Amino acid sequence: MCGIIGVTCLPSSRNQKVAEIITNGLRSLEYRGYDSVGIAMIDASERRIIIKKSDGMLEQVAKRYDFPNTPGFTGIGHTRWATHGAPTQINAHPQVDCKQEIAVVHNGIVKNFLELKRELEAKGHIFKSETDTEVIAHMVEELSKNSDTFTAFKKTVSMLEGSYALALVSVKEPDKIFFARRESPLIIGISEGINLIASDIPAMLDHTNAFIPLSDGEIGWISPSHVHLESLSGEVVDLKKRIIYVDWKSDMVRKGGYPHFMIKEIHEQPQVLKNTYEGLMSDDILDRAADLLMRGEKLFVTAAGTSYHASLLLKLFFEKLTGKIVYPFIASEFRTVEHLADRGDIIMVVSQSGETIDTMKAMRAFRARGATAVAITNVMGSTIGREADFTIPMRAGPEIGVAATKTFLTQALVASLLSIKFSSKVGKMGKDEERGALAILGEAGRIAGESIAMTEGAAKGMAERIHTTKSLYFLGRGLGVPLAYEAALKLKEISYIHAEAYPAGESKHGPIALVERDFPVFFIVSSDSSDEIASNVAEMNARGALTVALAPEKFKEKLGAKVLFRVPEVDPMLEPYALTPPFQLLAYYTAVRRGYNPDRPRNLAKTVTVE
Ligand code: G6P
Repeated sequence: MCGIIGVTCLPSSRNQKVAEIITNGLRSLEYRGYDSVGIAMIDASERRIIIKKSDGMLEQVAKRYDFPNTPGFTGIGHTRWATHGAPTQINAHPQVDCKQEIAVVHNGIVKNFLELKRELEAKGHIFKSETDTEVIAHMVEELSKNSDTFTAFKKTVSMLEGSYALALVSVKEPDKIFFARRESPLIIGISEGINLIASDIPAMLDHTNAFIPLSDGEIGWISPSHVHLESLSGEVVDLKKRIIYVDWKSDMVRKGGYPHFMIKEIHEQPQVLKNTYEGLMSDDILDRAADLLMRGEKLFVTAAGTSYHASLLLKLFFEKLTGKIVYPFIASEFRTVEHLADRGDIIMVVSQSGETIDTMKAMRAFRARGATAVAITNVMGSTIGREADFTIPMRAGPEIGVAATKTFLTQALVASLLSIKFSSKVGKMGKDEERGALAILGEAGRIAGESIAMTEGAAKGMAERIHTTKSLYFLGRGLGVPLAYEAALKLKEISYIHAEAYPAGESKHGPIALVERDFPVFFIVSSDSSDEIASNVAEMNARGALTVALAPEKFKEKLGAKVLFRVPEVDPMLEPYALTPPFQLLAYYTAVRRGYNPDRPRNLAKTVTVE
């Protein structure tokens, strides 16, 4: 995964030091990996590159080495999620050539690095790290003995197998940053007297709103006043056609008084759901998407992580409202189902970032077989957003917390609005019914807000009670099943307590064996849970479990759970917005109570661009 950034600036054009701009950019990229961090600045007057890097998190490392005050007007930075080589100082990026005159940062994996390394070692190059990335610096060193840096860089890139987003600097051309992309995201940011390149838009928002997301195979360089971009086949790209303007503001990527991004983003849900709803209602995008779905033979949906749980909700909404079957599959398992796809089928692709490699590969495999891709994404300029045949924006604004929260509910909202439109097209809903259903969903934000207000205290209290627990369950029926999956994922990924989700009825077929006195079992009770869920609560009570129901007051007696997280009583279509905030809050407060930073779960990254 990893986050990379490069900045090149005219000496006179900014008051801020370039190294400080890079450090701030890294701060917003840190969610992509935080095993180690580093910067390389070109000190042109001394004809040298200054490298500062170490294992550890940005705040400590940047302070220890005084990142922001490093001199220079051109530099690159990196925050690492280790693939090849342990997270040590030597393996941290930037990686350099023999003379430390070339520095490179990389997100991805160079699969043939051993082969290239042997070749270079035979020519006398001395390697210091265990990384795959170091070969790039040495290869450019080797090839630029007889050519300019860009030619050497292009040749080097053409030898690489695997995935990469690269930024490279060389003392020979001290105001340029060379870059290339294949399968890992990379975006150019353009402004007056300063140009930037980064893995993600938020890292550049302080300096520009004009961006060029790169496509696979593109390569080029930036200087403070010029951008050069060419395609794999060597054709120069017309930049004007490629610029996108993004209306995100830089304060959206700050904590705004909250202790963590995750809690800020949970609290943003009422507003972003409103934005999603109003955005989608104000144009005909859902109508056009539904028209496309109408032409589909089979409907598939794919995603990873939290987005997969939203896909399971999509399946439920679609099948309930339209009668049409939707086949969901986990993106990384696409090879088991791709043979089922034909021309005329539709693959719906749900991805917050639009860059998850597994999801991208699944989409590409289905498209290669003639299926049409309809993407739901939060980042319109992302690879999935651009490659899909049709893209629906989620409008959740930037999400920085690694654990997805607000994007889950906006995905759910897009899915239910789309299913309503589709249902009306296939004649399962009349026009009045459609209008009524759409109007109900206009309340999604308000309900999320009410639910947060009603359950935050209870979540804090419960976190106190369960923070020493080793293991727990989330159970549900119907709509409660995907929500239980999401609840278990949220809790385990940030609090490191083992949490498992099951359809409540299935809990009798194994999971109940673990239940003893005070074992916590959470029930997510939707109105389609039917009466049987009360039997499941009773079964757990009989074994002494600490049973907790997330449900409206009216189910309290029937359920008989020992604790009730009272949520708003709402129309079934609004239940995701009532039932989700309490388990997000529970996960958050449990992680905090256990002393962990919920924004930086260990071993995880927000955007997973490696297989
Ligand atoms: C990672 C993140 C999750 C996210 C998943 C899919 O695992 O930590 O929060 O749900 O990737 O990401 P996407 O951007 O495709 O929705």
